[in-house]
Amino acid sequence: MNRKELIQKYIEFFKEKGHLEIPGASLIPENDPTVLFTTAGMHPLIPFLTGQKHPLGRRLVDVQRCIRTGDIEDVGDTTHHTFFEMLGNWSLGDYFKNEAIGYSYEFLTKVLNIPKERLAVSVFAGDKDAPKDEESAKKWKSLGIPEKRIAFLPKKNNWWGPAGETGPCGPDTEMFYWKLNSEKAPQSFDPENENWVEIWNDVLMQYNKDKGGKYEEAKQKNIDTGMGVERTTAVLNGLEDNYLADMWKPIIGEIEKISGEKYKGNEKTMRIIADHLKAAVFMISDGVEPSNTERGYVLRRLIRRAVKYGRKLNLKDFTSEITKPVFEIYSDYKLDKEKISDKLLEEEKRFNETIEKGMGIFSRLTKDKEELSGKEGFLLYQSYGFPLEMIIEETKDRKIKFDPKGFKAEYEKHQELSRSLSAGKFKSGLIDNSNKTTRLHTATHLLNEALRHVLKDKGITQRGSNITSERLRFDFNFPRKLTKEEIKKVEKWVNDKVERDLPVKREEMNLEEAINSGAQHEFGAKYPIRISVYTVYDEKNPEKPVSREICTGPHVGRTSEVGKFRIVKEESSSAGIRRIKAVVD
Ligand code: ALA
Repeated sequence: MNRKELIQKYIEFFKEKGHLEIPGASLIPENDPTVLFTTAGMHPLIPFLTGQKHPLGRRLVDVQRCIRTGDIEDVGDTTHHTFFEMLGNWSLGDYFKNEAIGYSYEFLTKVLNIPKERLAVSVFAGDKDAPKDEESAKKWKSLGIPEKRIAFLPKKNNWWGPAGETGPCGPDTEMFYWKLNSEKAPQSFDPENENWVEIWNDVLMQYNKDKGGKYEEAKQKNIDTGMGVERTTAVLNGLEDNYLADMWKPIIGEIEKISGEKYKGNEKTMRIIADHLKAAVFMISDGVEPSNTERGYVLRRLIRRAVKYGRKLNLKDFTSEITKPVFEIYSDYKLDKEKISDKLLEEEKRFNETIEKGMGIFSRLTKDKEELSGKEGFLLYQSYGFPLEMIIEETKDRKIKFDPKGFKAEYEKHQELSRSLSAGKFKSGLIDNSNKTTRLHTATHLLNEALRHVLKDKGITQRGSNITSERLRFDFNFPRKLTKEEIKKVEKWVNDKVERDLPVKREEMNLEEAINSGAQHEFGAKYPIRISVYTVYDEKNPEKPVSREICTGPHVGRTSEVGKFRIVKEESSSAGIRRIKAVVD
């Protein structure tokens, strides 16, 4: 059974049971700013799980591409993947536990022909939020699953959702497959025994979690199920390593081919490269671009990690090669090969430049020395983006002493400093941290952006700024006096952003990265190499921030805190420079 067969069988089975197939959605969640990526098949269906009518009815089935970024560091073993596909069937207020479990059992035993002896299940044990799920257990028993093969487990194991912070959720019942061929499945199900592999999860959506963290009985009860394609394909083929299944093997094969190395002995490295680049292909395909924030940052991190691991196999300029088998395996997706390959190579090149620059500094720092101090290591990491693992490797190769503990101490010192900075404990210069000046700081950023928009002049930059607890003063380059209408428009632009209550986030990055990411900075000002950037995000379009500036802050957390913005004066400051004074009420 390969990937395509499994998907086809699943979809066919549920179509026969009255489900309509829906196309998989983008990896970028459309209506949910609380998560960066689509993490499950139910994600794009949230509006319909909460009562909105789905145009295709109440029984749906699909295969959904997903990204889970929680375990990037775990990738490298036999089972963790960043990108994976999830098969799912849904009942939107139609059938509930009985039918859902019945369908699952039928598909597993009649279509996939899994012998009952290799199956076990878990159901929810009950707690203060919801009772023990006797009904599901009874159903499993009626289908012939012995009592000893049914485990009652707590919320930690048998509860799903919500996908973001709030939304539909409920107890679930999970199905496990005994993966060993060499040994018969024990009579009792021990969820701790790793030879039992979870292959399917039926979520019985009875509740809705609200902002206050309370679980309310949902008006519409739904079924949401998820079967991992990679895992299920692997176990059905008796494979103990997912990467030997058909949606991975050709990628591993390509890595072997271009590196001249064998998978055996390089498993971890090759799995990481394959996993990260496959995920990168799908992210780029769905419109993510490498950047320093949010989704773009995850993508950048994946590509850079893949490149870094590629170096272990002496691979260079290789990322687009590895994607060729990805395009073949996933020929059922419309992947823009050229765009994806170009983006990957571009990012790979940028990273290699970073590394080379870092190598130069590294050599300078260690010239005629036997040791690289933690402080120096941290400088390489912080200011030149040189990864710690590479510092460790390089020092090892060159037989230079390096103590990661010293690095860690330096790192923590820095973290502490950043925390203090963001808590506003440290002041840069004589900044007054009162609430009013904080609001004026954010208003200044919005004003800066508003001027470029309203005056339709991208060349406008800050030429001076001064904030007191009464007002802000902002100087910028512009050749003439602003009209009354323009002033009104600028006010309106700012107030519109205030009303929309947008989040303001602080991030740290290298100066070069900040400037490359389009962060505003004062013309001619000198900045340290590591700086903080404040971004006003548009949650509906996180890739296109409303404003982004290099700044030490402080700023408000959300734009609504700024209050009503009003320009009180517009005048000339010097030749070609205008000055605006404004207040917030
Ligand atoms: N939404 C459920 C899961 O991700 C099915 O496991």
